[in-house]
Amino acid sequence: MRKKIVAGNWKMNLEYAEGISLFSEIVNMVKDEKKGEQIAIICAPYIHLNSLAQLGGSTVFIGAQNCHQKESGAYTGETSAKMIKSVGCEYVIIGHSERRQYFAEFDELLAEKTIIALQNGLTPLFCIGETLDERNNGSYFDVLKSQLVNGVFGLSAADFSKIVIAYEPVWAIGTGLTATSEQAQEVHAFIRKEIAEKYDQTIADDTSILYGGSCNPKNAAELFAQPDIDGGLIGGASLKSRDFVDIIKTFNS
Ligand code: 13P
Repeated sequence: MRKKIVAGNWKMNLEYAEGISLFSEIVNMVKDEKKGEQIAIICAPYIHLNSLAQLGGSTVFIGAQNCHQKESGAYTGETSAKMIKSVGCEYVIIGHSERRQYFAEFDELLAEKTIIALQNGLTPLFCIGETLDERNNGSYFDVLKSQLVNGVFGLSAADFSKIVIAYEPVWAIGTGLTATSEQAQEVHAFIRKEIAEKYDQTIADDTSILYGGSCNPKNAAELFAQPDIDGGLIGGASLKSRDFVDIIKTFNS
């Protein structure tokens, strides 16, 4: 059975005390409202991770937003998957479009990051998504397929079964332009079909595929009701405890 997941991505926001305070609010609210099988995750900047992992317990899991592709060494300013795991994190976002766009991260590098994350016991939330131009010129299925093929389809079936895919259309991120539930479902079904063709139908059926891009408490229910949408990767709305918890609650309504 694939898991229902709501993951927040705080991006480069919140000073230390602000992060602790927001996270504590979320944990308290989720304790009362989270029922069923869904998983809540907060992906925070590195400086927050250690403290959040102590506070989160098994109520809200913690993830990083990136990791380096090497095990350790002379890479000034970088943080390894092993270090992230060592503070109690379970997840790491890999291949977010902001990493691809502003830090020139490309599929083959992201494939290395995915492998090192898995080797260190982290679950990658692997992001793919097309730009507005790619959507408008109709090449988006090709773009998404090549991100899958070059990013994660090199994994063994056993390793692939451990990852989560996030579809985040670049044109919907931080713009208020959410993909319609039909647009998102079309792509999620396509991703699942590609996984079935590469691996098998059971692995495809068991892979959680999250939607990200201007997801909020108003549109989450309709998005999450689609058969191939297993939850969300939430940016702006994860910075407000009420909004984030309301999105989690849509699974219970
Ligand atoms: P927004 O929800 O702010 O559009 O961001 C989505 C995102 O990039 C999550 O990773």
